[in-house]
Amino acid sequence: MRKLVSNKSSVVVLLCVQLWMILLLLQLQFCLSIAAAACIQKEREALLQFKNSFYKDPSHRLASWNNGTDCCNWKGVGCNQITGHVTIIDLRLDIDQVGFRIAPLYSNNSIHSSFLELKYLNYLDLSGNDFNYTQIPNFLGSMVELTYLNLSRTFFSNKISPHLGNLTKLETLDISFNLLETNGDVEWIPHLSSLKFLSLRGMDFSNTSSLMQVLNYLPLLVSLRLNYCNLQNIHFSSSSWLNYSSFLSRIQLLDLSSNKLNGQIPKAFQNMTSLKYLDLSNNQFNSIFEGGISTFIKNNFGLKVLDLSFNINLGGDVFGSRYGNQSTGCNLQVLNLGYTSFKTKIPDWLGKFKNMKSLDLEDSQIYGPIPASLGNLSSLEYLDLSRNALTGTIPTAFGRLLNLRKLYLQENGLMEVGHECFAQLEKLEELDISRNLLKGILTEFHFANLYQLHILSIGYNELLQLDMKSNWNPPFQLQVFDASSCIGCVRSEFPQWLQTQKRLVELWLSNTSLSISCIPTWFQPQNLTDLDLSHNKMAGPFFTTIVNQMPNLRRLFLNDNLINDSLLSPLCQLKNLDTLDLSNNWLSGIVQGCLLTSNLFALDLSSNNFSGTFPYSHGNDLSRIEVLYLRNNNFEGSMPIILKKSKFLETLDLKGNKFSGNIPTWIGDKLERLKILILRSNLFNGTIPSSICNLTDLQILDLAHNQFDGIVPSKLSNFNVMTRKDTDGFPAICRNGNLDHGVVCIDGGKYMVQSIKSSYFNYSMIRLTLMVSIDLSNNSLVGFIPSEITKLKRLIGLNLSHNNIIGIVPAEIGEMESLESLDLSFNQLSGPIPLSLSKLNSLGTLKLSHNNFSGNIPREGHLSTFNEASSFDNNSYLCGDPLPIKCVIENSSELPFNKIDNQDQDEDKWEKWLLYISIIVGFIVGFWGAVGSLILKKSWRYAYFKYGEEAYFKVHATIWRSIEMLKGMCISKRIW
Ligand SMILES: *[C@@H]1O[C@H](CO)[C@@H](O)[C@H](O)[C@H]1NC(C)=O
Ligand SMILES: *[C@@H]1O[C@H](CO)[C@@H](O)[C@H](O)[C@H]1NC(C)=O
Ligand SMILES: *[C@@H]1O[C@H](CO)[C@@H](O)[C@H](O)[C@H]1NC(C)=O
Repeated sequence: MRKLVSNKSSVVVLLCVQLWMILLLLQLQFCLSIAAAACIQKEREALLQFKNSFYKDPSHRLASWNNGTDCCNWKGVGCNQITGHVTIIDLRLDIDQVGFRIAPLYSNNSIHSSFLELKYLNYLDLSGNDFNYTQIPNFLGSMVELTYLNLSRTFFSNKISPHLGNLTKLETLDISFNLLETNGDVEWIPHLSSLKFLSLRGMDFSNTSSLMQVLNYLPLLVSLRLNYCNLQNIHFSSSSWLNYSSFLSRIQLLDLSSNKLNGQIPKAFQNMTSLKYLDLSNNQFNSIFEGGISTFIKNNFGLKVLDLSFNINLGGDVFGSRYGNQSTGCNLQVLNLGYTSFKTKIPDWLGKFKNMKSLDLEDSQIYGPIPASLGNLSSLEYLDLSRNALTGTIPTAFGRLLNLRKLYLQENGLMEVGHECFAQLEKLEELDISRNLLKGILTEFHFANLYQLHILSIGYNELLQLDMKSNWNPPFQLQVFDASSCIGCVRSEFPQWLQTQKRLVELWLSNTSLSISCIPTWFQPQNLTDLDLSHNKMAGPFFTTIVNQMPNLRRLFLNDNLINDSLLSPLCQLKNLDTLDLSNNWLSGIVQGCLLTSNLFALDLSSNNFSGTFPYSHGNDLSRIEVLYLRNNNFEGSMPIILKKSKFLETLDLKGNKFSGNIPTWIGDKLERLKILILRSNLFNGTIPSSICNLTDLQILDLAHNQFDGIVPSKLSNFNVMTRKDTDGFPAICRNGNLDHGVVCIDGGKYMVQSIKSSYFNYSMIRLTLMVSIDLSNNSLVGFIPSEITKLKRLIGLNLSHNNIIGIVPAEIGEMESLESLDLSFNQLSGPIPLSLSKLNSLGTLKLSHNNFSGNIPREGHLSTFNEASSFDNNSYLCGDPLPIKCVIENSSELPFNKIDNQDQDEDKWEKWLLYISIIVGFIVGFWGAVGSLILKKSWRYAYFKYGEEAYFKVHATIWRSIEMLKGMCISKRIW
């Protein structure tokens, strides 16, 4: 939890402190019960039967449940002190830091019927344990003493037992996140007349339009959680709100986040006079009622937490600026408006919230200056204004935010750092002002009292300078220091003060004009996992020093330097290394096999002078690699056979080497996740194996400039990604790409979860526009263009030029609606130019020259925009505009003839294409190679480090944790 970058963390901490105190009380109660009556024989037996119904208890949580002992003493059991009856069973399983349940109890059956013996049970918490998709037993309905029932995340399924409605003393019911069905039957709910706290998260109520009517009957309900319930406006149609005025005036906690509510936020919400906590995040609201937040806060005076984040189209006068001056809202502690579309300035009056602990306006399209009034938020602990269009100065008034622990201002247009703006913030732990336009000089003075600082990110402020004495001894111990692209922060030297930083985990000094030829011997951070010294002017042998001084590195970026080591082997000693980028250096020699380990996740050796074959022996294993770049070296020999086991490989780029021989069939059979296959400009020969069409995820296939012969593989429609039609990005399984039930679609690259610091998760959804192309040009391919090619509706670029392909162009080529570049020149294609080409409205490049096409050039539709003769010339039987040859009347013996040579121009256009492709390739995987460092953010790299299977789970867990745990974990204990 500590690591979470979210404004919710402070609330959760608060709530959890309360939770913890409740637990203490419970324990106290247990202790008292030990001293009092001992447990009842029959109940002990019942509990033992219950214990035996679990077939697995990995963490021995029921170890104390033994026959000979007093069951009131057992862990998780509580008894009435006087009667000795079991009243409490608490086997709640908490969630660990990454959102996983730690060692649940596993049962193949539902709750054991021996429970019926526990007639006095009033508190039952089995949350987090695994009941293997069984049903909630009917008999629970007869345990009428229950006041607390928590069965959340217990893998119960099927229909909810309506007998639960008999539990008239129940005050708390949490059955969230199971696979329970309602089938529209919610009639049992109104019988729960004592209910105060109700959590039904993750249940699908899309067919239960009466839900609100039913809930309205619960006279004592104060807390309601309905997130991930598939709620739509129909559940809350505005006329019906009027009927719920008593519900609305009573409710204290209302969580409707992660549903499908849209349009305007209902006016009725203005009348929730008891409201303390309102979460409407992750819906599709696009506007707020008149008066906006300021009126809202004024009316709902007790409100402590308001979350409207992730309503990505929510805009308009959201703050209610015209009403602002009336607003008092002194109770508000948490305001989360991140990931919206406010397009407004931050109003001055936000500074009035003396109790505000967390303010999050991340990525909400706000602009203008940061009002100095924010400096009055004296309770503020968390402030996130990142990723907006804020300008001006970081206010000096921030110096008064003495409780601030986290301050995020990155990715804005801020120009200046106010005098003394951070200097007094003794509690500040994380400071990110990177990616602004900051200028000026930061001195020791600015950091003088930042004793707690452990993340300092100031990179990408090209005009910012750090001016520290060489013997500066900072008051903090950093874990993360990022000064990338901040030349004035580093001044070509390794900053001396880093010598004092013993806890560094990540150091980012990319593009800082570092021109050292050795790493200082004093720099020996034993915990360092990430080192980025890329895009500098470092020359000289580094590997041995790095290995000796930073033995725990996991990610190492030395790309774009002047390093000329010829031995990579020292790097083999970095046992944890998973990402290595040495591209664009002067490295030479062979690649030692010891480097190729199953840890390796991404390897980029491109644009060096490596030679020899790519090693393979039985010791080598690249079984986890996802990204391999070897382009532009002098490698030779066959396709690296070591890749045969690389079933996670997504990008393979061997362009510009001397690899030779066939494409082995295992490429298509084993590398099933391959998305990008670039073998361009090598000496490969033989036929293109048809198994290549098994690569269903392929989106870039570039085999150009080799010596392939044989035919173009025909089963092209197998390329699922290339055939998919939806315009909504891909893959199709992610079409709904939101965070439904904590599952995030990162597979396939439509969305990736971007983590800002590798170990300090933040998240945002990024949509990637991906390149989709096939280039088989400059080979010796023969045969026809397979007609299946017209099914590749997502294909953007197709180049089959400079081969010996014969036959006609498939008439349905107009179906390839995404095509932007089509090059079929320098073949022996014949027949007419298909009329359907005129439908390809995206087409920007068309090359049909040097073939045997005949007839009129169609000039309909989009084809009329191709006015260069070079697109069509050197086709002996082709005529008409834009060729200078007029079409003559049929039966004429004269043949159209044209001699303009356009080969050079072809090459030019292709260079552009290649650049485009490589930019996108670079974009996808985050390597710097092709693109300037300013465009490509470091965070992209993180995205792709996290883009593996292990990472998938981490990311998944993060989202799960953020969205679900934060919003709901503590509900089931009595908070309010
Ligand atoms: C719940 O109450 C109904 C009606 O009073 C009764 O028929 C049913 O048996 C009860 N269920 C249980 C499990 O006791
Ligand atoms: C709010 O409550 C008042 C009376 O308490 C009522 O007149 C008004 O219509 C309510 N507003 C909404 C939007 O429900
Ligand atoms: C492919 O090239 C290799 C040498 O690189 C040669 O031995 C082989 O005969 C060639 N195969 C074909 C089908 O041309």
